[in-house]
Amino acid sequence: MNSVSQRFFAFGALCALIGMAWGIVMSATGDHSLSPAHGHLNLIGFVASSVFGAYYALSPSAAASKLSNVHFWLAVLSVIVIVPGIVMALTEQGETLAKVGSILTILSMLLFFVTVLRNRVGG
Ligand code: HEM
Repeated sequence: MNSVSQRFFAFGALCALIGMAWGIVMSATGDHSLSPAHGHLNLIGFVASSVFGAYYALSPSAAASKLSNVHFWLAVLSVIVIVPGIVMALTEQGETLAKVGSILTILSMLLFFVTVLRNRVGG
């Protein structure tokens, strides 16, 4: 597991596997109460990570920068924090974790924005 692109795709696929299994459980039990958390795991965990992975594959200079590693771990941490945070908010156990997860998630996207501005696609 070397390149940041490979790591983003692997993390994305892992999130999709967990998110889909969760979706199947929701369908089987008829309990959709946590569906926003499932949706965020699939969209932030799988879709966004896969977009990041594709971008880093297309931009070797961005992938080689130290910031790409920071971006990867920030993206992983944001999913690990925001998904249980949404579960806690939905089950009325407090919103703090969801708030922290939201900040981490937007910081991850900010880092991506900076990276895109600093590196040419294909360069
Ligand atoms: C095995 C695959 C999947 C199953 C069985 C599944 C199942 C479900 C179920 C049962 C719901 C609740 C629907 C409702 O209450 O109206 C739901 C909601 C949702 N799912 Fe999935 N899902 C799967 C994959 C995905 C994927 C791959 C994504 C995104 C990339 C996704 C995104 C969403 C979103 C955004 C919602 C709505 C969340 C909300 O507004 O509450 N799902 N899914």
